[in-house]
Amino acid sequence: MTEQTSNDAIVEVNYDELIPNNVDLASDARLKKALESWQPKYLDWWNEAGPDHTQNYEVYLRTAVGVDPKGWAKFGHVKMPEYRWGILLAPKEEGRTIPFGKHKGEPAWQEVPGEYRALLRRLIVVQGDTEPASVEQQRYLSKTAPSLYDMRNLFQVNVEEGRHLWAMVYLLVKYFGRDGREEAEGLLERRSADEDKPRILGAFNEETPDWLSFFMFTYFTDRDGKMQLESLAQSGFDPLSRSCRFMLTEEAHHMFVGETGVGRVIQRTCDAMNEANITDPYEIEAVRALGVIDLPTLQKKVNFHTSVTRDLFGAEVSTNAANSFNAGIKGRFAETKIDDDHQLLNDTYTVTRVADGKFVEEDVPALSAINARLLDDYIKDCQGGINRWNKTISKAGIDFEITQPHKAFNRKIGEFESVYVTIDGEIVSEDEWNSKKEEWLCSDADGDYIQSLMEPCTEVGKYAGWIAEPRIGINNQTGEFEYVKIN
Ligand SMILES: [Fe+2]
Ligand SMILES: [Fe+2]
Repeated sequence: MTEQTSNDAIVEVNYDELIPNNVDLASDARLKKALESWQPKYLDWWNEAGPDHTQNYEVYLRTAVGVDPKGWAKFGHVKMPEYRWGILLAPKEEGRTIPFGKHKGEPAWQEVPGEYRALLRRLIVVQGDTEPASVEQQRYLSKTAPSLYDMRNLFQVNVEEGRHLWAMVYLLVKYFGRDGREEAEGLLERRSADEDKPRILGAFNEETPDWLSFFMFTYFTDRDGKMQLESLAQSGFDPLSRSCRFMLTEEAHHMFVGETGVGRVIQRTCDAMNEANITDPYEIEAVRALGVIDLPTLQKKVNFHTSVTRDLFGAEVSTNAANSFNAGIKGRFAETKIDDDHQLLNDTYTVTRVADGKFVEEDVPALSAINARLLDDYIKDCQGGINRWNKTISKAGIDFEITQPHKAFNRKIGEFESVYVTIDGEIVSEDEWNSKKEEWLCSDADGDYIQSLMEPCTEVGKYAGWIAEPRIGINNQTGEFEYVKIN
């Protein structure tokens, strides 16, 4: 079943081995042994920190059977601990060269260049750490799933984040020797929100306390994942590039879950408002009496998830990012489509900064503004789904628009960390900001209201009252399909 296209790029995945893979694992005894000894620890982690009490659930999951962008998946009911997590790389492109930085045009590296070893290892560990973290954050959500369809989507995202961890661990173990093996262990030891050994990045230590948060997370925070993977997919280190290219095909589904999830919440709210003849979206109590989530609260969730996720991009002006770019390790979003010299030796980029208590637009060397640019690209990328949500609202005849808050709102990292900024981009005092905070971010009462709706709905084909049915089923299944068999 395997088709060899070059010495180490196989399009089909070999499922005959303990660890499914398309990297010819069988021919590398040491690597195989190292990964096979990591696997039981991974399963321990899954059982301890992954979806709670779901070991016997049979879940309609897709499993990758190839890395061809078309037709790579097969669907079937699986118990999650038996999911075949594998190592999948996009096929090797013969003659690929490094697309940017000071090594631009040189052949892509098949081994880790010694001078960039520490830099590369750190990037892979940070990316790898986010993958199990989100599974941990979502551990208890299945208990309150609004439908079996949604529960299945949650689990699909979870098993794929688990697979993304495998992708990074493969790189660490294969290319970084003993240090890599230690880092691979560390990835299973840290825990989201654990005081002593937290996950590396802030947003991955936040709670995902309810399903609205889950949908917002998969729309906004998985999209940060997409931007990071897009940048790493450009890497001159070819195995990293190929890993990330395949991960991106999975990431797209996570953002689909988020976009359609929020979209269905909005749909249900608008339908309920219309049925009750409520036209003013700010009649919050009246809307909540219908058992749906009012639009202003949705906006507050958008404000929170966008601002926390923007912090993940790191300081807008950054020497580390400049070094990674210059080294050919981490590129820009859509690097090969950008019309410039891809070395940025003389280019500038305009960055919003704060000077004397005011925003100023400043041209800084483009090399040091790599993060700023990626953040700007991210903000643009977020807008598509928001526009589609707004279409649903306007079609329902309701006068309300979901917007992204100002770039500087509620930031803890980077250019805006020391200023207090409203959602409209006005710099205010700390006291003023705190006094208005609950207009912009959910209060405890808002959180309690959302929590009060989180009653599980596990009847086949049924949906909780605060969310609309999806338009189409997974893999074109019909409404009565049992996505999860709860055993
Ligand atoms: Fe991921
Ligand atoms: Fe993801």
